[in-house]
Amino acid sequence: AEPPPPPSNAQAAWEALRHDIQTCRRCDLYCDATQPVFGEGPLSPRLFIVGEQPGDQEDLAGRPFVGPAGALLDEAMAEAGIERDRCYVTNAVKHFKFVQRGKRRIHQTPTVGEIKACNWWLEQERALVRPPLVVALGASAARALMGKAVTISKVREEGIILPDGSECRVTVHPSYLLRLPDEGARRDERARFVEDLRRAAQRAD
Ligand code: URA
Repeated sequence: AEPPPPPSNAQAAWEALRHDIQTCRRCDLYCDATQPVFGEGPLSPRLFIVGEQPGDQEDLAGRPFVGPAGALLDEAMAEAGIERDRCYVTNAVKHFKFVQRGKRRIHQTPTVGEIKACNWWLEQERALVRPPLVVALGASAARALMGKAVTISKVREEGIILPDGSECRVTVHPSYLLRLPDEGARRDERARFVEDLRRAAQRAD
C-alpha cells in the first residue's frame, strides 16, 4: 500500500503549535489547569469560531466546547445549518481559569492581561487557517480578536473588521444563554443566537 501523503505545511505547522502550547508559560494559568486546550477542526474551514476559554470539562478532555456550553453550541449550529466538523473551533484563552469551591471548579473570567498573553496563540492559529469569516462568541473573544474592548450589542448586527482587515461576526457566548434565569428570555436569546450563526454562515458561503 502507498504510504500516507506527508502532511501539508499548514498541517505540520499546526501540529507544531499544538505541541509547543503544551509547555506555554506566557501567563500563570498553566499552573492550575490540567492542560492547554488548543483549537481543532479543518485548516480550511467554513467558519473560525472563537470562544472565551475552556471550562471544567474541556480542561479535562483537552478539547474545546465539549461541556454544557458546547452542547448548546452544537445544537444551535445544527439549527443554523452549520456542520461543526466544517468549522475550526478555538478559544481566546487556552487554559481553564477557575476557583475551587469544595469539589467544584468555578469558571473565572480571564483578565485583559491573560487574554493578551494568549493572543499569540490565537493569532498563530488564525494566520495558519486564514478563515473566510471569524465568529466571536462573547466579549472576551471579541476583545482578543480586536485588541480592545467591544460592546456586543453595538456590533452584533453589522459585525466588525479586525485590525488585519478580516471580517468578524460577533454574537453572545452560549454560557450567557445557559445563565439566563428567565425561560422566556432564554428562548428568545437562543433564537437570536441561532439567527446570528445562520447569518454568519451565509456570509461565509
Ligand atoms: N466556553 C468556552 O468559551 N470555550 C470552551 O471551550 C468551553 C466553554
